[in-house]
Amino acid sequence: MTEKRRKAPALRLFFALWPDDQLREALRQATRKAVRASGGRPVPARNLHVTLAFLGSVAETDRASVEAAAAAVSEPAFAFALDRLKVWPRAKTLVLAPGSAGEGLARLHSTLWSGLGEIGYPRETRPFRPHVTLARKVATPGEMHLAAPIGWRADAFVLVRSVTDPGGAQYEVIGRWPLGVETRRGPDR
Ligand code: 2AM
Repeated sequence: MTEKRRKAPALRLFFALWPDDQLREALRQATRKAVRASGGRPVPARNLHVTLAFLGSVAETDRASVEAAAAAVSEPAFAFALDRLKVWPRAKTLVLAPGSAGEGLARLHSTLWSGLGEIGYPRETRPFRPHVTLARKVATPGEMHLAAPIGWRADAFVLVRSVTDPGGAQYEVIGRWPLGVETRRGPDR
């Protein structure tokens, strides 16, 4: 009997900002009504995040080079506010997004993709629209009121492995890299 040729094992990976427990709970509380009103399938609180770079399928043997690209990122910590609830009709998702992405988030996204580009991952051509997906399969927008903006202080970014099983996506954080000391810029500089 001939042995079946086996494919190299692959991982489905993405880089993200990952909330701590307190922020996760704040996100859940603040968006609970909108999620319910959307009629969509809620994303479980444990899965809430902001994707920075979606890599898709990565051979297990390439994981080390992906991690090295992340380790080479040297960017300061930063803060931003999630203050816009929106339904994206094409994706049929309810999302929470920053009204303005801010320099820190844009720079981290750009620097990370530069490193990933050097090891052969093509940067996404569509513009970066940072967001937290709150619900999927949303048919019609419901109540979209957010009581108050959610502040997020990003002091690290993570590498996440995604496994899709019949119960939905399971995410496992498999790497974490700290961001540097936050630099504050005055409004007039
Ligand atoms: P979404 O929440 O807007 O669907 C894990 O699937 C994460 O990667 C999610 O945040 C998801 O974004 C994002 N993602 C999934 N497929 C993607 C793709 N083809 N391009 C960019 N991001 C993707």
